[in-house]
Amino acid sequence: MIYLDNAATTLKKPDSVYAAVLEAMRTLGNSARGVHAQALSAARTVYETREKIAAFFGCAEASHVMFTQNATQALNTALFGLFLPGDHVITTDLEHNSVLRPLYRLSREQGVRLDFVPADRNGNIDDADFERLLRPETKAIVTTHASNLTGNLLDISAVGKFALDHGLLYIVDASQTAGSFPIDMQKQNFSVLCFTGHKGLMGPQGTGGLCVGEGVKIRPFMVGGTGVHSYSETHPDKYPEALEAGTLNAHGLAGLSAAVDFINETGIGDIHRYETALMRRFHKGISSVSGVTVYGDFSGDRAPIVALNINDLDSSEAADILSQDFDIAVRAGAHCAPRMHRALGTESRGAVRFSLGWFNTMEEIDAAIDAVRSIAEK
Ligand code: ALA
Repeated sequence: MIYLDNAATTLKKPDSVYAAVLEAMRTLGNSARGVHAQALSAARTVYETREKIAAFFGCAEASHVMFTQNATQALNTALFGLFLPGDHVITTDLEHNSVLRPLYRLSREQGVRLDFVPADRNGNIDDADFERLLRPETKAIVTTHASNLTGNLLDISAVGKFALDHGLLYIVDASQTAGSFPIDMQKQNFSVLCFTGHKGLMGPQGTGGLCVGEGVKIRPFMVGGTGVHSYSETHPDKYPEALEAGTLNAHGLAGLSAAVDFINETGIGDIHRYETALMRRFHKGISSVSGVTVYGDFSGDRAPIVALNINDLDSSEAADILSQDFDIAVRAGAHCAPRMHRALGTESRGAVRFSLGWFNTMEEIDAAIDAVRSIAEK
């Protein structure tokens, strides 16, 4: 099987990740819920993972790294915990439903006002639109780092600088880039960075979180047990407990910790260069195939994703053929990115997304090019 659905989740993980999860499942108690050796061991694992994630993303304090089940939960925590009626928020057409649906709900139910920076037919935005959409009541900008459909990047450093210059919060969804691109939230002026652990970071599903900048106060989305201040009727307001109610996924976090070690040892620059080389080879190979339409902008740096359609095949049909006849796993359909599909003009049939990762080989890429050619020729 050739697995080219790494933007949905990386299937193959470093061996050290499997080992760390198994060891954690055999040995860890519940973090912050006791003083016996197993509980302390869990607390140590969680704390060390916080420290590693803080260093990895340039978050000033380990205690400002809060763990969640996934990027969606991190984004919901940030968006529902920051905005109030009357706030104006600028976002973009590139966003995933994990950003769009919380914002739509905030707009519908709580009077938060929204504006979208539009994407063109290539999936690009014009950074000047942030200035155009700015209002006196604008509170924040929320953007992804890369489209999960096209792989196009946003210039998050430029948006961060714009947000800083205008006194705005900047919330970044790094779901498609964490682990594949160097990110430094302090240097790039992000207020909140939301990430998932199971994609480019190559950790287990059920891991993710948010890194919160200095002075950024997020109201808890969920309240409950934290292991501290148990007699208080209100949830603790100090990070990280403020945004972590209930038992943490310490087993998964042990795997995430090993995954971050693997990335640091391998070198994120090398990972990015290799994934880019895979993507460029695939793009070059399929670009010359008659009947293939490719979406997105390939002129600059980008995430290792190539979205396409073949002749007039429905994207789901093409993905079925790739799976059944060629044993190649991709994702078709709408990719939870409705505005991006509308901008590209692919709303009715979706697109076939090939997303590449560290454990793919050049031979797999060549086999995928041959498969696309063969389907197009039929
Ligand atoms: N958000 C994930 C994707 O793009 C699941 O496939």
